[in-house]
Amino acid sequence: GMTMKDEEKLYKRNGILYPTIMSPPENLDALKDLEARGDDVMLVAYPKCGCNWMVGVLKKIMTTCGYTLPEGAPLIEFHSPETQKIMSQMQSRRLFATHLHPDDIPVSFKNNNTKMLVVFRNPKDTVVSYYHFMNNIPVLPNDQSWDKFFSNFMSGEVAWGSYFDHALGWEKCMDDPNVLIVTYEELKENLLESVKKISDFFSFSLTDEQVQGIAGESTFKVMLTSSTTAYGKFGKVFFRKGEVGDWKNHFSEAQSKQMDEEFKKKLEGTKLGAKLKY
Ligand code: A3P
Repeated sequence: GMTMKDEEKLYKRNGILYPTIMSPPENLDALKDLEARGDDVMLVAYPKCGCNWMVGVLKKIMTTCGYTLPEGAPLIEFHSPETQKIMSQMQSRRLFATHLHPDDIPVSFKNNNTKMLVVFRNPKDTVVSYYHFMNNIPVLPNDQSWDKFFSNFMSGEVAWGSYFDHALGWEKCMDDPNVLIVTYEELKENLLESVKKISDFFSFSLTDEQVQGIAGESTFKVMLTSSTTAYGKFGKVFFRKGEVGDWKNHFSEAQSKQMDEEFKKKLEGTKLGAKLKY
C-alpha cells in the first residue's frame, strides 16, 4: 500500500469513492449475504464523526455485560468475504459498524429490526478531522492541501461520499424507533448521560457504577493513552485533538461562508439539521 499512487488509493462504485485496500469491491459485494440479527449492535457513522469513540464505548458496554468480542475494527466493509463468513457463525450478540450511506447498508439490518446507533458531528469539525486523518493514513491519498481537501469534501469527492448525502439519508429515519441518533457535540457535553442512553437503547442492563466506569474510561485522554499503549504511534491516528470547534483554526472566511450556505440549502429546517448546530 505504501507504494501506491494517490490516485489508485480510492476507487468509485455507484458514484461513491471507497478506499481500495480497506474496502475493495469484493468486500462490498459480499455484504449482500450478511444476515443481520435482531439483537446485533450496529453503529453507523460518517468518517470522523466519532466512530472509534463509540466502538470503544460499545465494546466496554458489551464486555461488561459478559459478551466476548473479536479484536479489531468491526466495520462491515473492511471484512473480506472470508472473514464475513466467520462473522456469520459468531455467537450473539455481535457488534458491527459501518461508514456506508444508509441506502447501502445491507437490507437485512432493516428487515430484522436491528437497532442502529448513528453518530453525527457538525460538518466543519468533521472536515478538519478528516483532512488530518487523510494525511496520516498511508492507504488514503496523502498529498492534499487543506484547500483542495475542503473543496473535495464539499463536492462529496472523498472516501464514503458526501457528508450531506449521509445526513439527508438519516434525516428520513429520525422517528424510527430502531434508530438512535447522537451527536459528537452532545457526547462531549454529557458522556455519562449518553452512555446510559446508548446502553438502554440496546437493552443492556448496567448499574449506575458500571455506567460511570465506562464513561470514565471513554474520555479522550484515557482512550488516547490506552490506544498509544496498545499500538504505539499508530494508536494516535484516531485520537487527534478531540475538541468541538477546531474548525476555527483551519477555515478561511470564504470556506466558512460556503459551508454555511451548503448547510442552509441541504439541512436547514430539518430535525437532524437542528441537532448539528455549530
Ligand atoms: P479530531 O480529529 O477532531 O480530534 P472517527 O473515530 O470517526 O474516525 O473520529 C475521529 C475523531 O473523534 C477525532 O477527532 C478524534 O480525536 C475524536 N475522538 C476519538 N475518541 C474521542 C473521545 N474519547 N472523546 C472525544 N473525541 C474523540
